[in-house]
Amino acid sequence: MLTESSAAVVRATLPAVQAHGAAITGRFYQRMFTAHPELLDLFNRGNQATGAQQAALAAAVVAYAEHLVGASDVPWGPILDRIAHKHASLGITPAQYTIVGRHLLAAVGEVLGDAVTPEVVAAWDETYWLLACELVAREARLYQGAGVAEGGSVWRAWRVVERIRETADVVSFGLEPADGGDVPGFVPGQYVSVAVDLDGGRGQQIRQYSLSGRPGAARWRITVKRVRGVTGAPDGMVSTFLHDRVAVGDTLRLSPPFGEVSAVAGDGPLVLVSAGIGLTPAMSALEHLAVTAPQRPVTLVHADRAGTAHALRDELPRLHHALPNLRTALWYEDPDGADGSLTELPVRVTPGRVDPELIPLAADAHVHLCGPLPFMNQVRGGLLRRGFPSDRIAYEVFGPGMLRDAE
Ligand SMILES: Cc1cc2nc3c(=O)[nH]c(=O)nc-3n(C[C@H](O)[C@H](O)[C@H](O)COP(=O)(O)OP(=O)(O)OC[C@H]3O[C@@H](n4cnc5c(N)ncnc54)[C@H](O)[C@@H]3O)c2cc1C
Ligand code: HEM
Repeated sequence: MLTESSAAVVRATLPAVQAHGAAITGRFYQRMFTAHPELLDLFNRGNQATGAQQAALAAAVVAYAEHLVGASDVPWGPILDRIAHKHASLGITPAQYTIVGRHLLAAVGEVLGDAVTPEVVAAWDETYWLLACELVAREARLYQGAGVAEGGSVWRAWRVVERIRETADVVSFGLEPADGGDVPGFVPGQYVSVAVDLDGGRGQQIRQYSLSGRPGAARWRITVKRVRGVTGAPDGMVSTFLHDRVAVGDTLRLSPPFGEVSAVAGDGPLVLVSAGIGLTPAMSALEHLAVTAPQRPVTLVHADRAGTAHALRDELPRLHHALPNLRTALWYEDPDGADGSLTELPVRVTPGRVDPELIPLAADAHVHLCGPLPFMNQVRGGLLRRGFPSDRIAYEVFGPGMLRDAE
């Protein structure tokens, strides 16, 4: 809780901070990276260039302020969980909160100028630290749960033991600990951060990849889509590096598995809805259930450009045999007849885009969504309109941000 005097000041200055949010965060990053160039290796340069991460941090601080002064009723638990899991996968430390706080507050002062009295600084400082303390506490619990020693590093070397080209644009990597130690367990839906040293002196970059294989297997699997730059934008840094430079025998630095979204929630009917490379959590869920709950009723709904673009599709016959109550509905925008291997199975292939009205849905199902934001907004909106409860729709976003709630 904010002190009453600080709450009044935050309430009064919220409109000004909101109005200058973009300028404040822009200035904040400039200041922080000038004082701490080593932090450039931690942040996603693609998101910096497109402004996605800047918007995420600014939006989180302002939304938290609104929450503290009672100006919003957004539930904060899920948001804090999402940020804490992402931070833990990046190895964010409590000391770094001091750096971020110092430069964020200084940026507020710079942008708002004379309007920033010592009372205003104190009120926003209090707001920032209330949020920071919540995150630091959650992250400490996550580090402890993952066996990361206090002050220790999250990074561990993993050897690439297999590399499989799934489609023209998608490659899977099989990974084993380079130290020969144990392979940690995970929940389907969880991801690891992968840190790579880009060539040409471009420094380190970190990205998250969902584990696409079976928890408990002797190796981890990640499945990576090559991101190509469109309309003049550069190709994706890390996915291009993984595709072009990483071979069997190489090592990668990986974090432990984190991620608050389970792709196997509940124990009744499960509906897995994915598009494109968003299928990785669903494939891990199917691999897991094939061993732990083979009778569970599961509907797999997957949208892709074409059968030839649908990664891991060759695994479906094996998974259907292991999961007798699995039903699959595929939507291909451009059906290319490449689905011959699936004809004897309970698999329906429909041309076009997923129609949420046609997704088979038991009243007591749990739904997991993963794909591009517009796809997930459309499907979630359609399910809500069908009267399906939002608290049984989980979703994973492959980038910063969360879904709109208004649908
Ligand atoms: C929880 C989670 C799980 C994920 N799981 C998977 C997975 O299983 N498989 C998978 O393939 N991906 C997954 N991702 C996505 C992955 O983390 C990366 O975001 C993805 O590989 C792209 O990274 P990149 O470095 O190749 O692209 P980036 O270099 O980050 O580029 C991203 C986009 O920004 C654009 N861009 C970059 N610089 C500029 C610029 N200067 N101007 C304009 N545009 C620019 C690029 O063109 C590109 O479209 C996941 C993400 C999250 C958060
Ligand atoms: C109260 C303080 C903070 C808030 C509110 C905050 C908020 C956020 C949010 C909302 C995201 C995006 C999460 C997602 O949806 O994926 C994020 C990601 C991230 N945060 Fe923080 N953060 C804070 C502190 C820090 C600190 C101290 C650091 C380290 C210097 C840091 C580094 C990062 C990085 C590297 C990412 C991922 C960047 C990316 O993918 O572009 N954050 N943070």
